[in-house]
Amino acid sequence: INAIAVMTSGGDSPGMNPAIRSVTRAALNQGIRVFGINRGYSGLIIGDLSELKSSDVTNIVQRGGTILKSDRCEAFKDPVVRNQAAEILKEHGIGGLIVIGGDGSLTGAHLLTQETGLPVVGLPGTIDNDIYGTDDSIGFDTALNTALEAIDKIRDTAVSHERIFLVEVMGRNSGHIASQVGVACGAEMIVVPEIDFKLDALCFSLANQRAEGRGSSGIIVVAEGPKPGLTYRLANQLETHGEKPGVCILGHIQRGGRPTGHDRVLASCLGAAAVTYLMAGFTDIMVGMINSKITATPLLDIMEKKKPLNPQLVELAQLLHK
Ligand code: F6P
Repeated sequence: INAIAVMTSGGDSPGMNPAIRSVTRAALNQGIRVFGINRGYSGLIIGDLSELKSSDVTNIVQRGGTILKSDRCEAFKDPVVRNQAAEILKEHGIGGLIVIGGDGSLTGAHLLTQETGLPVVGLPGTIDNDIYGTDDSIGFDTALNTALEAIDKIRDTAVSHERIFLVEVMGRNSGHIASQVGVACGAEMIVVPEIDFKLDALCFSLANQRAEGRGSSGIIVVAEGPKPGLTYRLANQLETHGEKPGVCILGHIQRGGRPTGHDRVLASCLGAAAVTYLMAGFTDIMVGMINSKITATPLLDIMEKKKPLNPQLVELAQLLHK
């Protein structure tokens, strides 16, 4: 392989830039040319790519977002389109691809390499941290800290006004952000898609809190879940139980901002490792980090295995709140 390409795909996450920088510099240092593909698979299928020099990735290690831009690409679900994409890469003399993204993007990576034989290595880039085969995905730590900073501020006003606030964090299919944020912000309760939520238990705990003279303020962290509007529905239900909850949807603020030190180090380690694996002849794998060690997991496992939520975190938040 004389040249490789790198792309970011799906929802952006803080740390994608240090990952691009690491891939680029690690490859250039081995004499391998690097192409950056713009807008993920959407850019790939129209040949929107350009060669990256070392200076192109200068001063990006601290920047949120992704200099390569990102997209969710419906057209890439078509095998004919994937075949055309591989042809485009071959025309540019590109012998391997590194895809930085979440589960949908890594599924595309798996299908691309399976169907066309093009070597592809994935990196876990999503704030959701729902990717099997790595302790943390790139961007999770930053999102966690962004949400915490916001919730600490919401708690100030919750305490001043003795109100309950429902704070919705991202995580369509998983409660990884919610469970960690919930413990770290001292939430009264955490609502995640993986665990049945009991409104009565929440009302009981709020009543107890008041009876014990611990005030009426509190934070309930809610993972957005698969159906939009969950947090407002919960607020309405609480109102019928006599509460007057405030609602705050943190939304895309969690996807932006300067990556934390943890995310920069993780992205830098994984980016360089992805190049090493690709050059060593590996394909159809995702490079992750488990117990501080670089690991390679088949992309098929990433598609088929769900990263389990640690239910103890949800219980812990409640325990620490009694
Ligand atoms: O996958 C990352 C994520 O931020 C999810 O937490 C969220 O459900 C989704 O992306 C939102 O995607 P979009 O910005 O495309 O609406």
